[in-house]
Amino acid sequence: MIEACIFDLDGVVVDTAKYHFIAWRALAEELGFEFTHQDNERLKGVSRMQSLEILLEIGGLQFSEPEKLAMAEKKNTLYVSYIEKMTPEETLPGVEKFLQELRDSGIKIALGSASKNAPMILERIQLSGMFDAIVDGNSIIEAKPNPEVFLKGAEELGVLPESCVVFEDAIAGIEAAQHANMYSVGIGDLETLGFADLVIPGFDGYTVERLMKELKAPFLFSKSGKA
Ligand code: BG6
Ligand code: MG
Repeated sequence: MIEACIFDLDGVVVDTAKYHFIAWRALAEELGFEFTHQDNERLKGVSRMQSLEILLEIGGLQFSEPEKLAMAEKKNTLYVSYIEKMTPEETLPGVEKFLQELRDSGIKIALGSASKNAPMILERIQLSGMFDAIVDGNSIIEAKPNPEVFLKGAEELGVLPESCVVFEDAIAGIEAAQHANMYSVGIGDLETLGFADLVIPGFDGYTVERLMKELKAPFLFSKSGKA
C-alpha cells in the first residue's frame, strides 16, 4: 500500500533549469567557451559540483579544487539572484492541487532534492508547508542515482521504502528511486524515462485516483479526501 509520495524539486515542482542554464552559461562565457541548451540537459538532477565537472569537461579545461569551489560559488550567486525573485506563479501546472489532494487524503509528502537551494525555492513559491519532510542537498552525502535522498525521506516520514512513490524528471532520479525499492513516476517524455513504472507529462489534470489506477498500486488513505 502506498503511504507516501516523494517529490524531486527542480523539473517536477518548478522549472529552475532555465535559471541554472543562464548561470552556467555565464560561467562558460567567462571561461571562453559556448554552453548550449543541449549541454544543460546533462546537468539535470546532477549535483552542483558534478555539474561544474561536466561543464569544464565540455570546455576542455582543468582547474584546482579551490578554483572550482570559487567557480561553483560564483555560479550559485548568480543562480540565487534569479530564484530569489521566484513567485508562486512559477509552480508547475497542477502541482499545488495534486499536493493538496494528497494531504487531504492523508498521504505523507516529502521532498527529495539534490539542491542546496531547495528551502529557499519552496519558501518563494510558498509550498514549504505542504511537505512533512524535506531532504535536500544540505542533508545528503551521496548524489542520485544513489538512493540516499529518498531513503532518508522515507525514514523521516516513518514509512517503508516500498510504500513510497517518487516523482522525478531526471534519469538518475528514477534510478535512485529504483535502487531504493520505491515506485517511480517519470515527469517528462516516455523516450527518456520509459524505464520508470509510469511516465506522465506533468500534474496538470492529474488526480490521486488516476495515478493510483495507472500505477496499479493501491493507496492507503488515512483521511477521507476527495480522491
Ligand atoms: C538538482 C538540479 O535538483 O539540483 C541540478 O536538477 C542542480 O541541475 C542540483 O545542479 C544542485 O542544485 P543547487 O541549487 O544546490 O546548485
Ligand atoms: Mg529534477
